[in-house]
Amino acid sequence: MKISIIGSGYVGLVTGACMANANQHVTCLDIDEKKIKDLKNGKIPIYEPGLEDLIKEKIKSNVLSFSSEISQTIRNTDVIFIAVGTPSNTENNEADLSQVFSCAEEIARNIKNNTVVIVKSTVPVGTCDKVEEIINLKNPSLNFDVVSNPEFLREGSAIFDFENPDRIIVGTHNKDSITTLNLIYKKQIDNEFPIIFTTRRSSELIKYASNSMLAMRIIFINEIADLCEKVGADVNDIALGIGLDKRIGPEFLNAGPGFGGSCFPKDARALVESGISYNAPQNLLKAVIDGNEKRKENLSKKIITIAKNRKNIGILGVTYKANTDDMREAPSLSIIPDLINKGFNISIFDPQANKNSIKEFKNANWENDIYSVANNSDCLVILTEWSDFKDMDLKKISDIMDKPIIIDFRNLFSLDEMKKMNIEYHSIGREAINSSKEVE
Ligand code: UDX
Repeated sequence: MKISIIGSGYVGLVTGACMANANQHVTCLDIDEKKIKDLKNGKIPIYEPGLEDLIKEKIKSNVLSFSSEISQTIRNTDVIFIAVGTPSNTENNEADLSQVFSCAEEIARNIKNNTVVIVKSTVPVGTCDKVEEIINLKNPSLNFDVVSNPEFLREGSAIFDFENPDRIIVGTHNKDSITTLNLIYKKQIDNEFPIIFTTRRSSELIKYASNSMLAMRIIFINEIADLCEKVGADVNDIALGIGLDKRIGPEFLNAGPGFGGSCFPKDARALVESGISYNAPQNLLKAVIDGNEKRKENLSKKIITIAKNRKNIGILGVTYKANTDDMREAPSLSIIPDLINKGFNISIFDPQANKNSIKEFKNANWENDIYSVANNSDCLVILTEWSDFKDMDLKKISDIMDKPIIIDFRNLFSLDEMKKMNIEYHSIGREAINSSKEVE
């Protein structure tokens, strides 16, 4: 079976490399010729653990290739994945489907008989119907099927997630497509990971509902954390206590600076917009989006209150979470400019963020490690849960900094551990350690 994937971004590349790893013949396509040229030479445009090695290995064994000749390639494939971006439309918060529809046009011009078109991009309900309409208009007598097959890959562990999915969702009832999808995911099915066949519309909605549900959990635990700080409770214990209830479960209950990334914020906004269009308001989700925005403002206020007249702030981590270089909708993008505007001097270290591409921090000073940041700072703020930060030498930090303060928005350290250190420590939803009463 020959597979091509239109869109060599995050989802397309991980999907392509992993399917090639399952011995399919895959061509990843993109209109960006430079990106394709780099990929052919094994140069990967994103940081994802294990991806570069996997891609190089699969190029070598001739099961994975890259091309910008989209029309020519799709004319010779049995399965076409659409994995292009669906960013938020800045005017109305709906998903911008222009890239998906231009893929559909391209496919319509080049599709051969008996092709399966699989939409992996996250798209609102009814998008696959429109893709089918576009292809059908030019090819009324052709046999083809449009299938929804959303991705649930977490950045930083995307290869693991592809190989070990909680579930595979497929929106189609076409018998031939079911056979094809069972073949594509044979490895996962043999390993007894569940595959669910449903309608296209349900499949499209499952993706949005999953991400929105997870976003709600995060905002819920963050708001509980705020309450914990006021009443002297410990949010980590609350998460443990509620998470042991099997109906709730322990995952996604880490309080933090709010959710970011390429999916949660935009998918939540798009689902709210779908609710408005279909007159089925998603009120809970609307509150989640507002709560997440408000949280970033509150956190910069918290930093300012703790720092008082100390003007040098060190930021540890700017990506929206650990193990990625992705900055999309990272809490740091609003917290840091806010601090810069209020006259603070900012030093930053992040193990992967590309400093040249982040225009929002242009007045900040980038350092190459944690201790150089500490050297320039009165107060350290942890925004991302990189393991380097969890493993930092706290003794060295207290030697470097005069009256050190750590504000930890990822609760990386235990309170007992911090009580033993000569460090003022503030975290999320827990008591402050070694701090003067004044600050609290
Ligand atoms: C998410 C979904 O998990 C994935 O299924 C989907 O297909 C793409 O979007 P990803 O954006 O890679 O994946 O990150 P994820 O690990 O889910 O975290 C999203 C955000 O929530 C991050 O900002 C993270 O820091 C935050 N988060 C996560 C918390 O604040 N607390 C948690 O307990 C978990």
